Amino acid sequence: MPFRSARGKLYSGRFAEGLLPELERFASSLSVDLRLAPFDVAGSIAHARGLRAAGLITEEQLRGIERGLGRVAAEIAAGEFRFQETDEDVHTAIERRLTELDPDGGARLHTGRSRNDQIALDLRLYCREACARLTRALAGAAAALADRAVAAGRLVMPGYTHLQRAQPVPVGLHLLAHAQPLLRDAARVRHAYQAADEMPLGAGALAGSTLPLRREVVAAELGFGRLSANPMDAVADRDFLLDLLHAGVSIAIHLSRLAEDVVLWASSEFGFVRLPDRVATGSSLMPQKKNPDVAELIRGRSGRALGGYTALVTVLKGLPMAYDRDLQEDKVALFAVVDNAEACLEATRLLVEELDFDAERLAAALEDQGLYATDAAERLVAEGVPFRRAHHRVAGQVRAGEFRAPWGPERSVQLRRLDVAAQARAVRREAARLRRWAEANPPPLPLPDTVRSR
Ligand code: ARG
Repeated sequence: MPFRSARGKLYSGRFAEGLLPELERFASSLSVDLRLAPFDVAGSIAHARGLRAAGLITEEQLRGIERGLGRVAAEIAAGEFRFQETDEDVHTAIERRLTELDPDGGARLHTGRSRNDQIALDLRLYCREACARLTRALAGAAAALADRAVAAGRLVMPGYTHLQRAQPVPVGLHLLAHAQPLLRDAARVRHAYQAADEMPLGAGALAGSTLPLRREVVAAELGFGRLSANPMDAVADRDFLLDLLHAGVSIAIHLSRLAEDVVLWASSEFGFVRLPDRVATGSSLMPQKKNPDVAELIRGRSGRALGGYTALVTVLKGLPMAYDRDLQEDKVALFAVVDNAEACLEATRLLVEELDFDAERLAAALEDQGLYATDAAERLVAEGVPFRRAHHRVAGQVRAGEFRAPWGPERSVQLRRLDVAAQARAVRREAARLRRWAEANPPPLPLPDTVRSR
């Protein structure tokens, strides 16, 4: 076995030999965590400012570190960064390059810090921003549903329970029924933001530091709401990821239900919507086909969300305090679920905007007399008949094939006072409020102009 030195490793002082190259590749997280680079740089700048406030580095050393980190960030953003095999993660790569540019600054930056609290910080910064992006995407999808509901006007369709025709409902009501879960998801995302909004640096590897670190300075630099209370928990905690992933699962499940409705509506059997070419696909074999692939993909991609949540929660189960390398796996699940939720929300928004309801097919379906049986029973109740007897009487007519609807779909819907327009306005207002929040959060990071974190 040829000798490979541990040079380039942050811990090379302790090791005479390097890791086997195969295992180096196995252990590396760089391909996954490279996207955390802007957060890692911002976190390091804030940390260096904290070191300055603590009197652990000079003003000049701070300026050198900031300049060096700015250059590293610019190189990564421009795709000019030259990675080395020993760069086992984003933290190692950035510190290694900073040390090449500014050997003294590079040697001082990690003062009082471990990669354990550093990755916790990077993840929290990423999560805050992901929450803002998801909030914006949720607002977009909910607003599209509200717009489509308004555009549907007085169009009525059969509403279903057990996938059996039940009672007539405004098309807009059905669309808005899919907007409400998304607004609840926005509350889940907000909760995940609050969970992530905590500054872990100062925890070190797990037990804090003998140095007089100024944690509150670092937190203020990064706009964090609070400091972590316990250093062991600070490096072990991934609850904020679980909260975000749960929101991602919830979003995916809700979108899968909306997508399923679209698939049904677009089927030959229902025929309630026509899919314009812009949101439909064809068959390579069957010339007549027009398929709802986009809706099916949205439905199917909920599997990614559930898979990611399951993967992370499985990693966490039974992990001993405090940091364990298993935690490196968190990012694979996190990015998969967040990316998936964002992509599916955007696809849903585009799909909803294009839904073209077929008024004739809807009218034909609404001729089913059974849809008005409940109205007929309630009319008897209004005339003083006890409900159970009214139900029995109408059911008897239905069974004998003698039931006739007392009125048509418009009156049926009108009598139930379903104010779709007011509901759509409320959903739009809430979407606008969410967008405003996403504009104002998270607070800007201390990043050089050369870098964009989003
Ligand atoms: N790449 C690691 C992760 O994602 C960073 C922390 C590594 N810490 C350590 N002691 N090896 O979790």
